[in-house]
Amino acid sequence: MEHPITKAIIPAAGLGTRLLPATKSQPKEMLPVGRKPILQYVVEELQAASLRQILIITGRRKRIIEDHFDDDPQLVRALEQAGNQALLKDLDYLDEKSRFFFTRQSVPRGLGHAVSLAADFVDGDDCVVALGDSLIAADNPAGPLNRMMAVHRNLGAAAVIAVEKVPAEEAFRYGIVSIEGSEPPPGEPVAITDIVEKPAAGHAPSTLAVAARYIFSPAVFEALKRTLPDKRGEIQLTDAIRLLIQMGRPVYAWPFSVGQRRYDVGNFESYFRTFIDFALADERYGYLIRKYIKSKAYDL
Ligand code: G1P
Repeated sequence: MEHPITKAIIPAAGLGTRLLPATKSQPKEMLPVGRKPILQYVVEELQAASLRQILIITGRRKRIIEDHFDDDPQLVRALEQAGNQALLKDLDYLDEKSRFFFTRQSVPRGLGHAVSLAADFVDGDDCVVALGDSLIAADNPAGPLNRMMAVHRNLGAAAVIAVEKVPAEEAFRYGIVSIEGSEPPPGEPVAITDIVEKPAAGHAPSTLAVAARYIFSPAVFEALKRTLPDKRGEIQLTDAIRLLIQMGRPVYAWPFSVGQRRYDVGNFESYFRTFIDFALADERYGYLIRKYIKSKAYDL
């Protein structure tokens, strides 16, 4: 049997300008959604899918990310002494099996450049890329990645990219894929014939948007080396994927299955919506928040 994927990269170096002033001195990936910082959900999703070597690409003003993923024996001891099992459980993401690695992108040269910094860490293996500002909601948190890794293996793909349908007027915010034939049903992979980053209004080849989760074979690092910067001087991951397609490598889109979706926290409107949905779904506080919102809705 082929050796399973164990390495994941979380790019978390973006400047978070759209979330200022909340992100003036705090990384957007560390903003809370419900009771946890966004990045903790991403890490827990990877751990659930047995990805336990995790490289987080950080940047300036992002040092607290390292603190959050560092063991804290003193805190654990204090919680044990207080018999606080619930809070101890919330620290499960610091399990002994996971290793966290960090590197910094010192210049804002784009997502593709950030991912290229992981080349030595990946060292010729297949890997997962999970963007640090996007959450995936699914009954089984490992569901989407497990499925994508199976597709990657079964189809011998160079890349498998999660996609989600977006309203046509929103397409300019995303990487958009062109596919062979008609739109596939949820959970079924389809070959990508082209991909474009943030197409101009009215020029999107489809409404299937790249949704922040990717599985790559090492060929992506070759493609990244050959990818030219865009107009803003940034190296786009989307352009490297386009190069893979042009090199004749098999690249697939994978639309989420029914009941699975992505939450983007890149701007305030989507951040507020995400917070509300996760607060409502919270197993400890959800029912109180539901009650509160119902009473509030009455006055709106
Ligand atoms: C990035 C990618 C884009 C993708 C998006 C999903 O854009 O470049 O292809 O659709 O993430 O969140 P960003 O949101 O960093 O501008």
